[in-house]
Amino acid sequence: MRIVLMGPPGAGKGTQAVVVAGHLGIAHVSTGDIFRANVAAGTPLGVEAKRFMDAGEYVPDSVTNGMIRQRLAESDCSPGFLLDGYPRTLDQVHVLDEILADSTLDRVVEMTVDMDELVRRLAKRAQDQGRTDDNVDVIRHRMDVYIAQTAPLTAVYADRGLLVHVDGMGTVEDVTSRILAALTS
Ligand code: AP5
Repeated sequence: MRIVLMGPPGAGKGTQAVVVAGHLGIAHVSTGDIFRANVAAGTPLGVEAKRFMDAGEYVPDSVTNGMIRQRLAESDCSPGFLLDGYPRTLDQVHVLDEILADSTLDRVVEMTVDMDELVRRLAKRAQDQGRTDDNVDVIRHRMDVYIAQTAPLTAVYADRGLLVHVDGMGTVEDVTSRILAALTS
């Protein structure tokens, strides 16, 4: 299966992606995780990505697309993959289409969560983990960037008949059950 998981910051994409990809036996590919691993390792990619991430901006498409091309060419992605946080721009949608070539995505899952709950989750993570992009001003900007650049992509995938909406409120287990049900319906 080839799946895209979409949703605003704090929707639970990363949390659910690990469980769902594990359940389906496919690779979990998170652009945010790859960037953070590069930041932690101090690679040139990490140095470049960090200034965008800390400002709540998207890393430029030229960088992100090259990175994802490489990642999806790795052997663990052959049986399928769950993309967590990619694509986020129209340019990324086009590049993913090119990478997929003659194959297609199976589903695009959009997780929906109330704004108050998103802010509550990210504020809690800021306390627990101190992620550098989880402060109030940057969270607000990440939400605005998502609304302006990524939310419109759902219409593209809805037109292709691939989009399913999943309620991301409630316990982690309840949300996982809803996603798995949406993927098999
Ligand atoms: P990324 O790491 O993908 O950040 P994000 O999209 O802002 O998403 P988050 O990680 O904040 O939230 P999430 O939806 O994954 O939720 P999570 O499971 O973590 O990207 C970071 C940055 O990298 C971007 O801002 C950008 O700079 C760059 N980047 C990444 N991809 C890019 C791309 N394609 N193009 C360009 N730039 C890109 O959960 C959040 C919290 O809530 C956690 O603490 C979790 O434990 C908790 N939680 C989860 N589910 C529940 C639940 N059901 N109930 C209660 N708490 C819950």
